[in-house]
Amino acid sequence: RIAELRLNDLLDTQPAMGLQIMAWSEVIGAWSDDASGLTCAYLTEAHRQTAAQMVQWMQDAGMTASIDAVGNVVGRYQSDHPDAKTLMTGSHYDTVRNGGTYDGREGILLPIAVIRHLHQRGEKLPFHLEVIGFAEEEGVRYKSTFLGSNAVTGHFDMSLLARTDADGITMRDALEFAGHDFTQIPAIARNRADYLGFIEVHIEQGPVLLQRNLPVGIVTSIAGSCRYLVTLTGMASHAGTTPMTMRKDAAAAAAEIILLVEQRCSGITSLVGTVGQLQVPGGSVNVIPGVCNLSLDIRAADDSVRDAAVADILSGIEAICARRQVDTQLELTMRAAAAPCAPWLMQQLAAATERAGVAPFMLLSGAGHDAMSLVNLTDVAMLFTRCGNGGISHNPLETMTADDAELSAHILLDFLRHFTPK
Ligand code: GLV
Ligand code: MN
Ligand code: MN
Ligand code: MN
Repeated sequence: RIAELRLNDLLDTQPAMGLQIMAWSEVIGAWSDDASGLTCAYLTEAHRQTAAQMVQWMQDAGMTASIDAVGNVVGRYQSDHPDAKTLMTGSHYDTVRNGGTYDGREGILLPIAVIRHLHQRGEKLPFHLEVIGFAEEEGVRYKSTFLGSNAVTGHFDMSLLARTDADGITMRDALEFAGHDFTQIPAIARNRADYLGFIEVHIEQGPVLLQRNLPVGIVTSIAGSCRYLVTLTGMASHAGTTPMTMRKDAAAAAAEIILLVEQRCSGITSLVGTVGQLQVPGGSVNVIPGVCNLSLDIRAADDSVRDAAVADILSGIEAICARRQVDTQLELTMRAAAAPCAPWLMQQLAAATERAGVAPFMLLSGAGHDAMSLVNLTDVAMLFTRCGNGGISHNPLETMTADDAELSAHILLDFLRHFTPK
């Protein structure tokens, strides 16, 4: 694929920013924690290599760049304007396990390509532009999301430093090993008064734009999400001798819970519910599952719709487990309110989209994004780029085209050139 991209570059059949974004994505997309697919968890070797590479690309593009105490890659394209405030853009560079090439990364690489374009032309902006590659959004390693963006907004929970990963390594040790001074994390918090807003460019991760044959869309709001880890404890016993009526099967309880989640979240606009993790630790073919762990992820555009579903699901779990004599333990791991985008920023993104000859289209984001954390600091807006392959994401099959990346970059560039603070 890289060879093909380079060939296109030589032939100049494709526009430059889009191709650059695709080529950069391929480079860092090859650095993974494991051999199969792309996994880039917080502070692993692949993660640190990715950060160092992005610092280099930012500097080459005319920015000052460094890595902060939580692992965020922070680049600045300084304005010469005396009273300049800062517009922030960016997204995350960590990935889910076996994730896609563009999820998060597009929103870092695209602004770098845009700034490179400006810098090559000697073009300055009347405001500082800060590009942040957030270190952690997906919550893979420490089961806590938005570590990078929460540090920037001053919402990083320092008690997480004691949390361990699957190998028993604390976040504090992982940070120290990566060369970060974790005591400086609170100092990352930005001042609200310095910021004009936050724009996040992101692959859609769904099929809406693809179905409508639209290259880009403007996000109206990001669905709020609620996550739990559920531990079900029944009784392990012999699979051959224990009568069906005398079992306390934790996995059978989990099966009922999964179907309850599916049923409760079906048929209601924007409400979605998923059990994405399911384990019988140490399970054997001839042992009735004594323990079963599962995750819950419930989302909706409207927090009250989501909360009503969560309440019903939790009481349903209680009823299922009481009937089956299975104990339940619930741990709330995430509760993020729905995040509305700022109409004044959406209008300016819509105007730039229209100037690019595309009809502005507004859509809800079902996926979570760093912008959900940034609403705690400043007004936010998001530009979505069409996702190929039926809209599949959080999967190595995730794709986008160089043309759509180019158009998205062009829209961000035009948005920046016309940007009018509130
Ligand atoms: C993160 O990508 C999420 O939406 O869960
Ligand atoms: Mn993701
Ligand atoms: Mn993402
Ligand atoms: Mn996300």
